[in-house]
Amino acid sequence: MRQRIVALVMALAVAVGLGACGSGAAASEVKILRVALNQTETHPSYIALDHLSQRLEQQTDGRLRLDIFPNETLGAQAEVLQLVSDNIIDLAIISTPQMENLSADFRVLGLPGVFDSVEHQMPVVHDPAIVGTLYTSLESSNRLTVLGGLTQGARNIYTKKELGSLADLAGVKIRVQESELHLAMIRALGGSPTPMAYGEVYTALQSGVLDGAENNEVSYVTQKHFEVAPYYTDSHHLVGLDFMVASTEMLEGLSPADRALLKAEWINTYKEHTQLWAAATDQAIEDAKKGGATFTHLDQDEIRARLKPLAEEYLTTPAQREMYSKIRAAAGDEEGSR
Ligand code: GCU
Repeated sequence: MRQRIVALVMALAVAVGLGACGSGAAASEVKILRVALNQTETHPSYIALDHLSQRLEQQTDGRLRLDIFPNETLGAQAEVLQLVSDNIIDLAIISTPQMENLSADFRVLGLPGVFDSVEHQMPVVHDPAIVGTLYTSLESSNRLTVLGGLTQGARNIYTKKELGSLADLAGVKIRVQESELHLAMIRALGGSPTPMAYGEVYTALQSGVLDGAENNEVSYVTQKHFEVAPYYTDSHHLVGLDFMVASTEMLEGLSPADRALLKAEWINTYKEHTQLWAAATDQAIEDAKKGGATFTHLDQDEIRARLKPLAEEYLTTPAQREMYSKIRAAAGDEEGSR
């Protein structure tokens, strides 16, 4: 798989280079940043990235733009992250669990209960006083730089059979993203976690390898999971987070002006994405219902109580506890300033 992707990316680079020469611009002047995404072209992340590319192009007279590869074309997130680290791909949208596998410090941003809402989440994950050190912490070890985050909204459990209460999760195989924390999260709720890449979930649900999964409404609909797991609960167990991860080498190779432009336009990108997110969620709920999905309710207090011990268990260093406290303090949580 990796060899195929590397060959594909190289072939595209040559084709793009020739295209640029043909249109009169010197190939060396044109910089096209390849972005890997595991979402469809209708997902807010694709739309916001596409608009980012247009703004970069406009502001550099066509010299700088993105080439976005959606639908896991360049591989699942674990593989893609390695390709960014190796500077074969320039940028990728990567979910928190994959980053947790590189550094446990990222778990702080992946804990159930760390964010109350999208409105709480977005400013703190772009506040250098809170995340500045974390986002550059993989530069020397993995040559990865985090530019910022995109919300995943609230994640909820959905299943092939209706859940009346958490007790019904016993023995139910729920797909999780591949990290220790995510396995622990579903275990704490009483289910049986099965780690798997995003693109494999539809078939696994359809064939009965999985009994359910957990994700936001937008993914539930864009991935068509509602067709094969029609009961969507309001577990709200996590406000999820994706990162815009860049190859450190690529960033260092940009001119200071282009680097500054990319960073500034990222801010506009996450802000646009946050706006798109709310409307996309409402639309997804409507579409899922039209497609036959049933939305059901679970006891919120019981869910919070089951997940609370995870913060104690997974915050293992003073630096992690300090970041957690700062984030909770931003939500107005008095415990946050402990
Ligand atoms: C969301 C998220 C993705 C992630 C996916 C998953 O869709 O935005 O980055 O890969 O969930 O559950 O794997």
